[in-house]
Amino acid sequence: MSKPYVFITRKISEEVLTPLKQIADVQMWNSESEAVPREVLLNEGKKADALLTMLSDSVDEELLENAPNLKVVANLAVGYDNINLEAAAQNEVIVCNTPDVLTETTADLTFGLMLSAARRLTEAHHFVKEGQWKSWSPYLLAGTDVHHKTIGIVGMGSIGTAVARRAKGFGMEILYHNRSRHSVTENELGAVYKSFGELLEGSDFVVCLTPLTEDTKHLFDADAFKRMKSSAIFINVGRGQVVDEEALIYALEHKEIAGAGLDVFYKEPIGADHPLLQFPQVVSLPHIGSASVETRTTMMELCRDNIIAVLEGKKAKTVVGGK
Ligand code: GLV
Ligand code: GLV
Repeated sequence: MSKPYVFITRKISEEVLTPLKQIADVQMWNSESEAVPREVLLNEGKKADALLTMLSDSVDEELLENAPNLKVVANLAVGYDNINLEAAAQNEVIVCNTPDVLTETTADLTFGLMLSAARRLTEAHHFVKEGQWKSWSPYLLAGTDVHHKTIGIVGMGSIGTAVARRAKGFGMEILYHNRSRHSVTENELGAVYKSFGELLEGSDFVVCLTPLTEDTKHLFDADAFKRMKSSAIFINVGRGQVVDEEALIYALEHKEIAGAGLDVFYKEPIGADHPLLQFPQVVSLPHIGSASVETRTTMMELCRDNIIAVLEGKKAKTVVGGK
């Protein structure tokens, strides 16, 4: 019997793959910097028993309908809005993600982005590097405090909870909005549940961690930005499409909010000439929420283990849907 065939859509560590290679033929798209072309992905899908995919790959109906051997898609992310779960179920494909292992790492990044935007760290960094530091002055690159302010977390999953724990350490008031109440966060961290509108009106930092679904698309629209304090800073480490970017640009231009820290964008990668990147008060990152070497390695191992489990007829550890 021939071994199952596994295709990986990005170059990942050979070391991680060793156990998988013992039971399967493994090929990968051999680039660290370039996404697999659509045609290549579709062709590989026709042959593969398993795919290890990135959040930038569209695992849609077309791919899933034309993948007769495919049993599992392991996505290297906690989010899986790039995968059509309905089509996966119809085609009896199991879909796995990488929750939990990236929670603390992503919370660190979220907090770092909030601190950077509030205290103007990237502006200050460029200021020094560009030789503009000629004298010290009291309000030189003065930002706004984070400690003892109010954070409003939209999407209180495990990452939101980990951000709330950090916020408590900074003496912050914690508001949150979520589909369901979180008694642990309320009892242990003193987080207060608010309607979306109340959260927007009461927060100094509005932090978006919600996944992208039909319900959350464009959740942050013109009205949402108008309801925020003019001193508020908006942080997005969820998904770009949860935000109406035109509305965000308008809000920044018209000083409806004071700034933003963005790890995710409507269209990724965002072009350097994009209007959002022209604001000094916007800190922009290339979707690196979970990008520590330790965590990315653990995520790859989890994807690998999920694929091995399914190929061996066992239960995968972190299934989000599909068959
Ligand atoms: C990253 O955005 C993820 O979903 O893991
Ligand atoms: C995000 O909020 C998560 O923890 O899944």
